[in-house]
Amino acid sequence: MYVTDSTAKADQDGHSDYENGPMTTNSSGNAFVRIDDDSADVQRRVVNYLDRVAAHHEMQRVRSVAFETLAPAEGEHLLDVGCGLGEIARQLAVRVGGGGSVAAVDLSEQAISVAQTRHDGGSATYAVGDITALDFPDNHFDAARCERVLQHVQDPDRVIKELARVTRPGGRVCVIDTDWSSSVGDGFDHLDEVISSLAARDHNFAAGRTVRSRMVTTGLQRTTAFPVTLRFTSPADAAVLSGFFNRNFMRDRLSAELFNRFFASVDRSVDRGDFLFAFTMWICLGQVGFPDQPSAFTQATLTRADFNIYALQDPVHGGLNRLSGTDEVPSLP
Ligand SMILES: C[S@@+](CC[C@H](N)C(=O)[O-])C[C@H]1O[C@@H](n2cnc3c(N)ncnc32)[C@H](O)[C@@H]1O
Repeated sequence: MYVTDSTAKADQDGHSDYENGPMTTNSSGNAFVRIDDDSADVQRRVVNYLDRVAAHHEMQRVRSVAFETLAPAEGEHLLDVGCGLGEIARQLAVRVGGGGSVAAVDLSEQAISVAQTRHDGGSATYAVGDITALDFPDNHFDAARCERVLQHVQDPDRVIKELARVTRPGGRVCVIDTDWSSSVGDGFDHLDEVISSLAARDHNFAAGRTVRSRMVTTGLQRTTAFPVTLRFTSPADAAVLSGFFNRNFMRDRLSAELFNRFFASVDRSVDRGDFLFAFTMWICLGQVGFPDQPSAFTQATLTRADFNIYALQDPVHGGLNRLSGTDEVPSLP
C-alpha cells in the first residue's frame, strides 16, 4: 500500500492532539496485562485504542503481510489468540469459509464481549481464555496466530509452546510482535534516552525480535521472520501506535527533566514540520514438525499449507516470490 504524508500532516494541527491511548490504573502499569481489572473508563479507552490501531495505515500494512504469511486457506480450522476485538478472526473466517472455523480467544471478558457484539455471522467464535494455558486439545488447529500479545506476558516461551501444542503436525504458527527498541527518529532529540528509560522497566521491550529464536528453541521448523518497519511523519500519527508520544503515558515513566526536554524537542519538530519516527514489527512463522520425522517436506504429499511455507521461504522457486528472508530452503520430494 502506498502511503502519502497528507493524512499524517492533517494531524499536525496542535501539540496536544497526540494524547490518546489507554492509561492504566492497574499495578502492572500495562493495560493489556489484565484489561478487566481496570476501570470502565480505562476499558473504554482500550477499546478505542485497539480500534484506532486497527484503522491505522501502518498497522494495516503490517497486517496485510501477516495475512499473506499465515496464508489461510478455505476449510482450515484456525486460532487467533489474544484476539482483542476480533477483527482479524472475522477476516480469517471469510477466507476459511463455511467449511472452516476460526476460534478467537482473549484473556479479557471485556474484549470478548465487544468482539461478540461485532460478530458478522461468519464462522468465527469467541471465548475467554489464557494464551499460556489454552483450553484446546493437542493438534487441534491447522494454524494459530497471535498479534501484539507476547510483549504483554510474563513467559513468552510458554506462549509459543502452547501455540505449537494446539496446532497439528505440519500446521503453522504465526506470531506478530513489536520491537520497541528498534525505534528511531529524526527532527527531534533525546529518543535514545527515552528508549533506555522504558527498556529498563519492561523485560519484553524487544519482544518482536525474539520471536524467531523462541520458535527455534520450541522446536518449530521452517522458521522465518519478516521485519516490517512502520514510519510516521507526525507525533499525532505515531501516538496512535506508540506510547512514546503520548504525554499522559510518558509522564510517570520519565524523569520530569527528560520528559520536558523530550517533548519540547518533539514540539519544535512539529513547528518545523520535520518530525520522523519509525519502528519495526516482526512477523514470524514456524511449522509444527511431524513426530519422528525431522522435516515436513519428507512427506509424500504436500498440503497447500505446506507449500505456502515453502513458497514463502524460497524467493527463487516459491510461487509467491515477493518476500526475502529465506532461512532454510528445503528440497521438494
Ligand atoms: C495489544 S492487544 C492486541 C489485540 C489483538 N491481537 C490486535 O492485534 O488487535 C493485546 C491483547 O492480548 C490480550 N492478552 C493479554 N494477555 C493475554 C493472555 N495471557 N491470554 C490471552 N490474551 C491475552 C489482551 O487482553 C489484549 O486483548
